[in-house]
Amino acid sequence: MEIKRMAGAAAEIETDALLALCFEGVKPEGLGEAWLGELYESGEFTGKPLEFALRHRPEGLRALRLAALGLGKREEFQPAVLRKAVGAAARKLRGKGVRRVAIHLGEAASSDPFAAAAVEGALLGDFEPDQHKTGKDKEDKALVELVVSGGTEAGVERGRILGEAQNYARTLINEPPNVLTPTALAAHARALAESEGLDCDVLDRARMAQLGMGALLGVAQGSAEPPVLIVLRYRPAGTPGSEAHLGLVGKAVTFDTGGISIKPSDGMEKMKYDMAGGGAMLGAMQAIARLRPPVAVTALIPSVENMPGSRAQRPGDIVHTLNGKTVEVLNTDAEGRMILIDAITYAERLGCTHLVDAATLTGAIVVALGNLHMGAFTNNDAFYQRLAEAARREGERMWRMPLDDDYLEPLKSAFADLQNIGGRAGGSITAAMFIRQFVENAAWVHLDIAGTAWLDEAKPDMAKGPTGVCVRTLAELAASWTAGPGE
Ligand code: BES
Ligand code: MN
Ligand code: ZN
Repeated sequence: MEIKRMAGAAAEIETDALLALCFEGVKPEGLGEAWLGELYESGEFTGKPLEFALRHRPEGLRALRLAALGLGKREEFQPAVLRKAVGAAARKLRGKGVRRVAIHLGEAASSDPFAAAAVEGALLGDFEPDQHKTGKDKEDKALVELVVSGGTEAGVERGRILGEAQNYARTLINEPPNVLTPTALAAHARALAESEGLDCDVLDRARMAQLGMGALLGVAQGSAEPPVLIVLRYRPAGTPGSEAHLGLVGKAVTFDTGGISIKPSDGMEKMKYDMAGGGAMLGAMQAIARLRPPVAVTALIPSVENMPGSRAQRPGDIVHTLNGKTVEVLNTDAEGRMILIDAITYAERLGCTHLVDAATLTGAIVVALGNLHMGAFTNNDAFYQRLAEAARREGERMWRMPLDDDYLEPLKSAFADLQNIGGRAGGSITAAMFIRQFVENAAWVHLDIAGTAWLDEAKPDMAKGPTGVCVRTLAELAASWTAGPGE
């Protein structure tokens, strides 16, 4: 999709559909005033969120259609509302065969965050996880042009970067597990590094064995596909604005069968999205490379396939982790935490002072929070506040969960330093507590995205499938980095 900004009169834009922002109970002025006035008076259209009306050949405009876009109350108007409304409009319009869209931001949405949200909405709504479909109508449906009238150049550019980064993550997450193996994911990371000017190092099995990453390698040993630990580095030009070094650790299990503690076959195909944490980190790094924030960022993506087989890890195995602690593997399906801990130890060895990990870690977080909020766990209140603020600005929902020391009790093993599961009660919390045991000095937040990384049904503003959750939040965390509390 080509994205352009226009400063001139919206009436002059040649497009297939021009979107006009409409608020609840506010009489529209300017663009298509007569028609919109009639619409409101008829009561057919009130300006509530997601309301939509379309008129052909609008008077006085060069656009072929004028679309009224309901946004709710003017006082409650936020970038998140606009992102969603534009996303829903993009999906509706592409469904009707409309290819060129324009949006008039006007006074209400003139600042950077609104312009960015409008562009993000269009990109996210236009996305379809159809890279493996061959029908010819898929190419004929995607939007080809978005014209933004008003707003700011910087806002539009930022929206393009974040929307494209999130869709890049969604494309990776949508790849089937026969195509997206750990080796293939590493090739994507190398290609990203090449095109965006990042540094890329991929640790193979031999290097990981030499370092002593027994936890990660234990998970990988049941698969014919070799594991990798992908390390991507972004370094700011000149003197960094801060001493901090942000580490982004993403779980990338390209397929999770559960291993010997095998999962039920029903719905197992969904476990291709068990690399959504790693996919999100690649998306975030693409955005960070383009936004060029003044802070050092390193992404670490441990990637494995969790398979049963004659070489697979068994329940009862005890592994030696990179940090020196031993872990008794009571359930081979609790594999995400095993690969994360070795990556986290390595991240601290590389100098990371702040860590965020994102992982489709537990079914328990879905029970606790459903599909709207990601779960957040931390060892540092100030750093958590920073991340939560970035998420709020980006309209991504997270909910803080407890992590008291007492949650360690169920993780005590009779035969090793720790065991990898803590029983049914508070499953997402004991999982986070397990990871916490391997964070030495860094300020750390763990995001459990098992409930938010995948949509089982399409929403008005988003297709079914991968969501690309937390790409925008992590890019914004880095982009807005300043010295201060939480650093
Ligand atoms: N990848 C799963 C978690 C998951 C479940 C993600 C549902 C997305 C949707 C993870 O590796 C896993 O299997 N977790 C187990 C942990 C249990 C064995 C302690 C779970 O949640 O059942
Ligand atoms: Mn599992
Ligand atoms: Zn998993």
